[in-house]
Amino acid sequence: MENLLPAAPGPMARFVGRLRRALRRPLPGYRDYQALLRGKRGLEVGGPSKLFRRDLPIYRVVGGLDGVNFSASTVWQGRIDEGRPYVYLKGLNGRTGRQFICDATDLGRLPAASYDFVLSCNNLEHIANPLKAVGEWLRLIRPGGCLLLVLPRRESNFDRHREITAWPHLLEDLARDIDEHDQTHVEEILERHDYTATPETPDRASLRARALRNFENRCLHHHVFDLPLIEQVNAHFGLQTLLRSETSSDWITLARKPGAAP
Ligand SMILES: C[S@@+](CC[C@H](N)C(=O)[O-])C[C@H]1O[C@@H](n2cnc3c(N)ncnc32)[C@H](O)[C@@H]1O
Repeated sequence: MENLLPAAPGPMARFVGRLRRALRRPLPGYRDYQALLRGKRGLEVGGPSKLFRRDLPIYRVVGGLDGVNFSASTVWQGRIDEGRPYVYLKGLNGRTGRQFICDATDLGRLPAASYDFVLSCNNLEHIANPLKAVGEWLRLIRPGGCLLLVLPRRESNFDRHREITAWPHLLEDLARDIDEHDQTHVEEILERHDYTATPETPDRASLRARALRNFENRCLHHHVFDLPLIEQVNAHFGLQTLLRSETSSDWITLARKPGAAP
């Protein structure tokens, strides 16, 4: 699902893409995700996400959804000023929530235990201190609520030659309170990035230039996840992983926070 500044497709390619998506069936087991989120109110970090419209169609069943992003202007969403609606479903059955602008690791403006669930799709790999972010998201989730994480499989994108991040490294980022100015991974990324997959950064010089401005653009994948690493994150916070799925491009888990369901 990762889609980082691709070259703009022509009208024919767009039409074929739309047709393919329209004909694609949802993921096996999608009803289990719907059952756990139906009618509940949540927050999405770094959305909206195409995945939740068709492949894992949960937008249409949730009771409400707000969105949070780090900036009022991102390369993925364009302008998304705070105060404007967070449009997660368009068209006749369009649905909106409230758009917040804050960093995923610093959501202090939002009250504790104010949501039933949090969604993060192709977003946690962009965050320099993932455990700090997840800890913050769990603060917002009521006891018994759910965390749905979607992370890209490295073989499906420009990370294909990188190593999966080691668990102790994530703990170290947390202990050192690493923030989005972190450039620890840049040399390794420049070395191993699959440049054939990113026409917008076809060589080291262009990728380096963008990486040095990562605080503004957030395009870096600081870390590379696989299913065991995601489950380790869930287990670290005492979450029970209830559902696991994979697509050709993503790992997906839905985990529950301890306590009585909301
Ligand atoms: C690759 S895009 C994914 C967009 C969408 N979720 C999807 O799957 O199509 C990453 C998203 O995470 C957001 N993001 C990155 N770092 C963030 C941070 N520290 N706090 C909040 N949002 C962040 C980006 O602005 C962008 O919206």
